[in-house]
Amino acid sequence: MRRAVCPGSFDPVTNGHIDIVSRASQLFDEVIVAVGVNKSKNRLFSPEERIEMLRTACEEFPNVQVDGFTGLLTTFCQERDVSAIVKGLRAFSDFDYELQMAQMNSKLAGVETLFMPTSPGYSYVASSLVKEVATFGGDVSGLVPGFVLDRLTAKLAGPRTE
Ligand code: PNS
Repeated sequence: MRRAVCPGSFDPVTNGHIDIVSRASQLFDEVIVAVGVNKSKNRLFSPEERIEMLRTACEEFPNVQVDGFTGLLTTFCQERDVSAIVKGLRAFSDFDYELQMAQMNSKLAGVETLFMPTSPGYSYVASSLVKEVATFGGDVSGLVPGFVLDRLTAKLAGPRTE
């Protein structure tokens, strides 16, 4: 069984994330989307909200499951018998940090990282930018699934929870 993990904070899930998960699901028997839920002050959505949105977004992929993890990603990989981490690369600027993490994860637990280039239509899409644009009333439809757009709009209209 070839099992891969697609990790991230997914605050919130974007169409760029879904593109990577979808393509990874065609290469591996099973893909676990792993939502990092380590404490952070800067999240818009709670861990439960991020996981729930991802579960809905990934419903169409039968070999994809979604779970949260705390602590080290490599520990999660060892517990789930995961042999590969799949990360999307949007631009060269992503590479420095991603390479460092990949090498650290390899050193820690021998887990390999595979970099997948983002489809060109999503190369500028990032959760942080989506939130910033939406905060100032910009149109982010087409960058996130419709139900995420609704949640984002509602969240930005209400009080921050986390
Ligand atoms: O969406 P992001 O911010 O790129 O996700 C980063 C994430 C959650 C994948 C990364 O920060 C991570 O793996 N965190 C878990 C803690 C860990 O293992 N740190 C060491 C990384 S080498």
